[in-house]
Amino acid sequence: NLFCVIMAGGIDRRFWPLSRQNRPKQFIDLLDTGSTLLQMTYNRMAKVCPRENILIVTGFLFKDLVQEQIPEINDSQILIEPTRRNTAPCVAFANERIRAINPEASIIVTPADHLILNEDKFVKVINDGITFIEKEDALLSIGINPSRAETNYGYIQIEDTSQNEGIVKVKNFTEKPDKELAKFFIESGEFFWNAGIYIWKLKDITSAFELHLPEIQELFAENREAYNTDEEENFISRIYSGCKNISIDYGIMEKAENVYVYCANFGWSDLGTWSNLFDNKEKDDDHNVTNHQNILTYDTHNTLITTTDNKITAIQGLEDYVVAETYDSLLICKRSEEDKIREIVNDIKFKK
Ligand code: GDD
Ligand code: MG
Repeated sequence: NLFCVIMAGGIDRRFWPLSRQNRPKQFIDLLDTGSTLLQMTYNRMAKVCPRENILIVTGFLFKDLVQEQIPEINDSQILIEPTRRNTAPCVAFANERIRAINPEASIIVTPADHLILNEDKFVKVINDGITFIEKEDALLSIGINPSRAETNYGYIQIEDTSQNEGIVKVKNFTEKPDKELAKFFIESGEFFWNAGIYIWKLKDITSAFELHLPEIQELFAENREAYNTDEEENFISRIYSGCKNISIDYGIMEKAENVYVYCANFGWSDLGTWSNLFDNKEKDDDHNVTNHQNILTYDTHNTLITTTDNKITAIQGLEDYVVAETYDSLLICKRSEEDKIREIVNDIKFKK
């Protein structure tokens, strides 16, 4: 009765120009391992969940990419969203589909675009987490030891800070605090980062939706007979555009009472920004990261350079930059100012 839901419909603007409207970061081999982040996620989840119970929720634009990257997956395991409404509707949709298959299900929900270095540890944590929620009516999140005042994450405050690994009750969940608050959280030592991975029983997440996002729950539960039949696609396309746009973190995790966190360390990174990627890549003697041999650097340090087609690329005198070129775009940005990229991408939408 175990299911896994891979949320793979987001568009991460922070990785422009590599991550694009038509190929967001989960569909890219960001780490040059030969596998895209989605493929890595699918293979990792297959270690804890029967393959036929892994569902991938994504936008209609990405259906072909999913099929191409995971050829073994059945069409019925790809849940297609007609429009993007963030992760709460994505979870609600998957919940109703799973209910039609097994109303007693336990579910693991995971992002599609993270790096997890220690998979053996990850498998153990997930298995322990499943055992926990099968006994307790809890919503279980995974907490990561924080290392900086990052504003792109959720912060989980715990009641008992005496142990640094294991499952504890959550006192407070704050999604994406501002810089000042994030600093305060880090200094207090009572907070973990939210990894964005959740484990719960279908019954408990449904109760949470009924309580905290009833309008979304009612919409998706309006025609339960449609799920897992030929009617589903029609029904979903009829309701989706009218659905509220909100993430599971703001919509449920910040509000729910029965939230627990499994504090665990398995070499997690959400590869959320160029600097994050830089940190996770092998550096050359000058501490640069380049994606091929034809990139020549002079008096250049701590810089990430990626160009296409083995293009001969020469860089003189850059410190702490990112230079990223694709077939039709080029970004040159100070790594310390990469937060601007989201804004830049908004402006770019109006060009060509
Ligand atoms: N199907 C679908 N539809 N998937 C989506 C949608 C959507 O509308 N929006 C986002 N996703 C997918 C993304 O592709 C990603 O795999 C996952 O859901 C999480 O969404 P993000 O947009 O990347 O969330 P975030 O990074 O801002 O924040 C979340 O992750 C952080 C850790 O990386 C939150 O859970 C934070 O609390 C957490 O710290
Ligand atoms: Mg993310």
